[in-house]
Amino acid sequence: MSDGTYTATLTGLGTCLPARTVTNDDLARRLDTSHAWIHSRTGIARRRVADPGTGTAELAAAAGSAALASAGRTSCDLVLVATTTPDRACPATAPRVATAMGLTGTAAFDLSAVCSGFVYGLSVATAMVRAGTCASVLVVGAERYSAIVDPEDRSTAVIFGDGAGAVLVERGGDPAGRGAVLHTELGSDGTGEDLITVPPGERYLRMEGREVYTRAVPAMVGSARRVAEAVGWLPGDIDAFVGHQANLRILEAVAKRLDLPPERVVANIEDVGNTAAASIPLALAWAADRGRLAPGDRVVLTAFGGGLTWGSAALLWPDVRPVHH
Ligand code: UT7
Repeated sequence: MSDGTYTATLTGLGTCLPARTVTNDDLARRLDTSHAWIHSRTGIARRRVADPGTGTAELAAAAGSAALASAGRTSCDLVLVATTTPDRACPATAPRVATAMGLTGTAAFDLSAVCSGFVYGLSVATAMVRAGTCASVLVVGAERYSAIVDPEDRSTAVIFGDGAGAVLVERGGDPAGRGAVLHTELGSDGTGEDLITVPPGERYLRMEGREVYTRAVPAMVGSARRVAEAVGWLPGDIDAFVGHQANLRILEAVAKRLDLPPERVVANIEDVGNTAAASIPLALAWAADRGRLAPGDRVVLTAFGGGLTWGSAALLWPDVRPVHH
């Protein structure tokens, strides 16, 4: 994916978070849990939850429109929606998202890689732009986990949140390379398919948290190392590490093994919880808003999740201002 004809450049970044915030104390009022347990074990203090009438498509369309606005565009060649929580099993969510954005007629499809969905989508978008198939691809990570989380299961109900984030990837771009997606790498391990799953015939998600945690750390470290090596960076050259926000302790463990100081690790899990495919673009926007990402910074994105799946991307941060819906 590094030897294509064209450069693929990240040019826009948008988000949509539902208005309603649910705090740990709110959850502790109805579940056998506490703010102290949740915050110390996960780093999460609050998460956003969509109203029952708000679907994944609505969140995705709002984030997608925000990303187009951030890039100063009104259209794109492809809308790619990464989600674990489509509003319907069939058809895909993306055509509805494109139409909601006023882009009826635009190619649109869903991608299912659970928490790695955004990085998988970014990889596909990069490859299609590099190959010349598309001049611009909108990659949206959108989730409404409140639809599949068992409200009575304290081991998952405290973890997940709703939201959407999106980037626009375009052909060409800055001569200095700012915004260039340099390399991506992806992997999977189906032996772990039962560790994060909605079992057949059931409504709710089940997660073997401890086992997932144990597998996540080495997989993320390996993936981040491989993508950095592919573009000639030592782990110490990484200016910002933006990992999937599943658990603050996982991010800290990965950073330690990569020898990265804490200030280079982006973490917004405290405010939004684990938003699966939306997690990395939401973290990028959070960091960009706070001046934690400067144009030209060497950024590594690394995700891990259900499937099991994982993946990383190495890119140079663009001169981009996030737009929030
Ligand atoms: O996003 C996709 C990838 N997902 C992940 O990467 C998730 C990775 N896993 C994790 O982040 C952690 O495993 C969790 C945060 C899910 C759980 O933390 P843990 O430290 O692994 O806890 P545990 O599941 O081993 O449970 C420890 C104890 C248990 O009690 P006993 O058996 O020691 O008496 C649980 O019943 O904590 C109990 N527990 C809770 N207590 C209070 C589990 N959930 C809760 C809760 N509040 N919400």
